[in-house]
Amino acid sequence: MTGLDVVILAAGTGKRMCSALPKVLHKLAGKPLLLHVLDTARRLLPGQICIVYGHGGDSVRSVINDPGLIWVEQAQQLGTGHALKQALPALHADGATLVLFGDVPLVRSETLELLVREAHENCLVLLTMKLDNPSGYGRIVRDCKTGDIEAIVEDKDATSAQRGINEINTGIMLFPNKFLSSWLARLDNVNTQGEYYLTDIVAMAVKDGVRVMSASPLNSWEPSGVNNKLQLAELERIYQRNYANELMLQGVMLADPARIDIRGELSCGKDVEIDINCLFEGNVQLGDDVKIQGNCVIRNATIAAGTVVSAFTLIENATIGQKCRIGPYARIRPGTHLDQAVHIGNFVEIKNSQISAGSKVNHLSYIGDSQIGKDVNVGAGTITCNYDGAHKHRTIIEDDVFIGSDCQLIAPVRVAKGATIGAGSTITRDAPAEQLTLSRSRQTSIGSWKRPQKDHN
Ligand code: UD1
Ligand code: CA
Repeated sequence: MTGLDVVILAAGTGKRMCSALPKVLHKLAGKPLLLHVLDTARRLLPGQICIVYGHGGDSVRSVINDPGLIWVEQAQQLGTGHALKQALPALHADGATLVLFGDVPLVRSETLELLVREAHENCLVLLTMKLDNPSGYGRIVRDCKTGDIEAIVEDKDATSAQRGINEINTGIMLFPNKFLSSWLARLDNVNTQGEYYLTDIVAMAVKDGVRVMSASPLNSWEPSGVNNKLQLAELERIYQRNYANELMLQGVMLADPARIDIRGELSCGKDVEIDINCLFEGNVQLGDDVKIQGNCVIRNATIAAGTVVSAFTLIENATIGQKCRIGPYARIRPGTHLDQAVHIGNFVEIKNSQISAGSKVNHLSYIGDSQIGKDVNVGAGTITCNYDGAHKHRTIIEDDVFIGSDCQLIAPVRVAKGATIGAGSTITRDAPAEQLTLSRSRQTSIGSWKRPQKDHN
């Protein structure tokens, strides 16, 4: 909509979080609360977004760090009306302003669009809803005959009859800008809390002949706010459940939608299966038929079609090709790229390494800063010694190499195509193609040797 300003109120102290961190920086699904609200606001393509900050302000600004935003300081928190007044100089003279709260992170842009659609020059739109237990919220007072909205009364100022009203103010509102400065100038703080209530402008609008409309959120959980860590945890579960539901509707098979956590974006192809207790962070893409077994952590990774990741595997900043088998208990660290049909087995750590198609590192290995060709077999317990105490060096293993168990490859080193390295070798120099290279003493037996005996006296 052209001429839409968004103001996010985020200056509150958040005392009940019992934390040094400003409330709006607490994380939901790995992302600060305020960023959730901001991302939703951005989807409306508003002319500008203004954030009213106060408590812990500079840390909030540095975390959000978007030069396109307008930041307005509310040095003293004197109420929601006072907060919006601080933003007034930044708002357009006409058009409309949508007010959002920095601690209400689950509201959907589709719901906000309902308000925006209702908006026109002489109309104020409130997001309201009916609650079984409305206590604590501002109540929507309507004319009992016409049903028109007359005012909002705060819980603490309400008469007992008004407390019986179950339609509440979610706090989200849209106003025509041309009236705002006169309404905000007329607010006072003569009420139970001694605050300048933004909600008081509703009665002013009615008096000025401006229509007050209402819309309801598409989902009942959208207007829930975060005041303490218990509510934060409850909203986290709602967020995760919603994400899980979306995945299942897209065809993803989740063993238990209550036991998956997504802190970022997870996109899945067809027939993906995810077992219990998996955590996805950052940007994760799973191709068709990918299977993720239980208790895996996958962060910023692309996993191509048909790959199976077995239980207790950690994958981070890596790309995995098609039809690979990873884990159980594997650790794939940043900078790793696996081509198709690579097998990485239990207790194997791979860091900053490229492994070509069909190669296997199946047991108890460390592969770091390495390039491994096609159809290589790395035996159990093999380690690339990539670090000399000061610098990192690369290990190159060419196609069709066979490395026996328990070898150390002291980088920089190259094992040429088709070479075989005998088990238990420590390889300090390049190994030639198609030959057996080994570095260990010949096996001997000492017949005169006696095992030490215990004294039995
Ligand atoms: C507010 C509404 C109430 C509504 C409820 C919904 C008012 C007067 N009341 O009450 O009708 O039912 O939200 O949750 O608006 N803030 C500032 N500066 C301030 C005070 C608050 O920026 O001086 C911000 C807070 O950071 C928060 C939002 O405004 O994001 C709401 O403030 P809060 O004190 O929680 O309002 P409520 O009393 O819950
Ligand atoms: Ca609140």
